Amino acid sequence: MPIHQTIEGSFQLIGGNFSNAGDASIELKQKLTELGFNADIVRKAAIVTFEAEMNVIIYAAAGWLRYYITPEQLKIIVEDMGPGIEDIDLAMQDGYSTAPEWVREMGWGAGMGLPNMKKNSDVFKIDSVVGEGTTVEMIMYIQ
Ligand SMILES: Nc1ncnc2c1ncn2[C@@H]1O[C@H](COP(=O)(O)OP(=O)(O)O)[C@@H](O)[C@H]1O
Ligand SMILES: [Mg+2]
Repeated sequence: MPIHQTIEGSFQLIGGNFSNAGDASIELKQKLTELGFNADIVRKAAIVTFEAEMNVIIYAAAGWLRYYITPEQLKIIVEDMGPGIEDIDLAMQDGYSTAPEWVREMGWGAGMGLPNMKKNSDVFKIDSVVGEGTTVEMIMYIQ
């Protein structure tokens, strides 16, 4: 892998701004493909990045998605200012969603975002403070 330093990128995410939803995952996917990462990592990275950016857009006021690519790992950190999550264990359950009706009508709110982020990353950490915001950190090891 021809990476000798950390390659990083960041995206600002604005709550309710569905028009640029997916931009971070598309850019990261392109970058990983250019760098020659295998299709499995590219696919997983695109899934987790997309789900994380959607959650900020749906639930939070604003946030940042940052990624760091090194020869050993891909790290994605998504931090938002928002309502936070009261019960993380509940939020992590398959199918649990508080998405409002208008979001469901757009096809979101299946309650699989957080479970899929966990399933598709090697390390998954979520930290949330009610009334302040949520931070999700995901690492994928590159073999
Ligand atoms: N960034 C966030 N800020 C506040 N609540 C969140 C955030 N991300 C997820 N949640 C809560 O966790 C629930 C489950 O999230 P997720 O698994 O992505 O499913 P979905 O987005 O389809 O509801 C959401 O419905 C919401 O209640
Ligand atoms: Mg979601």
